[in-house]
Amino acid sequence: MPEALTAKPSVRPANPRFSSGPCAKRPGWSLQALSGALVGRSHRSTEGRARLNEVITRSKAMLGMPEGWVLGIVPASDTGAVEMVLWSILGTRPVDVLAFESFSATWANDIIAQLSLPEARVLKAEYGEIPDLAQVDWSRDVVLTWNGTTSGARLPYDAAIPTQRDGLVICDATSAAFAMDLPWEKLDVVTWSWQKVLGGEAAHGMLALSPRAVERLVSTPPPRALPKIFRLTNAKGLIEGIFKGDTINTPSMLCVEDALDGLKWAEGIGGLKGLIARSEANLATIAAWEAQSDWARFLATTPAHRSSTAICLRIVAPWFTALDHATQTAAAKKIVSLLGKEGVAMDVGSYRDAPPGLRLWGGATVEAADLAAVLPWLDWAYEQVRREHA
Ligand SMILES: Cc1ncc(COP(=O)(O)O)c(C=O)c1O
Repeated sequence: MPEALTAKPSVRPANPRFSSGPCAKRPGWSLQALSGALVGRSHRSTEGRARLNEVITRSKAMLGMPEGWVLGIVPASDTGAVEMVLWSILGTRPVDVLAFESFSATWANDIIAQLSLPEARVLKAEYGEIPDLAQVDWSRDVVLTWNGTTSGARLPYDAAIPTQRDGLVICDATSAAFAMDLPWEKLDVVTWSWQKVLGGEAAHGMLALSPRAVERLVSTPPPRALPKIFRLTNAKGLIEGIFKGDTINTPSMLCVEDALDGLKWAEGIGGLKGLIARSEANLATIAAWEAQSDWARFLATTPAHRSSTAICLRIVAPWFTALDHATQTAAAKKIVSLLGKEGVAMDVGSYRDAPPGLRLWGGATVEAADLAAVLPWLDWAYEQVRREHA
């Protein structure tokens, strides 16, 4: 390790917030952005409904959602959006679920242990890998996560999902939407939350349904009782108001304002293309450093599967890999803690169930210059911990 790395780097990132959720606010954000929020007003007022509907229409336009899809704001963040769909739709057909990190494993567990669906298969892959899509039976309903936030592995745009299929594809896209192109014709349900790529506030979920998904919901009522918070249909069919801004329960108008602020910022930087370019530049910044690093490697081994948002690194130096798991975890935590104490990188520990290492968010609100500035700090913090173990 060159001597220079033992000294603290001189440049600090302007914004050290690299958490994978809630994620950094957009560049230039301040509380002033919320000054026009409809606080103290009813979300059912004409103005309230208009703002909620504006989130829907701007999001649809930016994502290039195909004609005929509907998009609603639902309770309980991305988890709420995914769960309401699992409970509302699954059970009339066999199900395949992909599990390759902790969130996708949660959906698999819900399907097996909570919904107790008898004809369910879990297709697994290790952290950093994605399951073999050739093993999926697309006549079944399929539940997949587009981007593994805790493993740094994503499905590629050209993932082998047939555009003609009998089952529905339910896609948790919370750390992919707005940073990655999504092949809408291969998906039927897409979910995300506000606090990820656009740096919004948490607690509200977005639920997008294809015409086939709507048709299924309407023609095949859920084979179980559902609480109000999960209900997408009533005796008349789809509850259409949900997809026009009539939320099931009360949203935060402050969060709504913030979501609109994020969308308007994104429009100003070139929309989806601009967002994707920023996220890819972030990945490229880390990739250039990783290629030279003698201690860090992407957790995702296949370049085409490397996430541009949740950028997960493992430590490959022999002294580290020779340690037992608990000691590795402690050493990785020490690196993370040094970075936090220096105020140069906040919340960059790998997820607790993932291999010990680092995770930096590279979504669109993060500046590539900040990532470039933090990389020498990663080398510095690593070196401090390596010396302790030498
Ligand atoms: C892939 C994925 N699914 C689900 C969730 C849960 O999201 P939320 O906290 O918005 O419910 C997360 C959160 O990071 C995630 O990354």
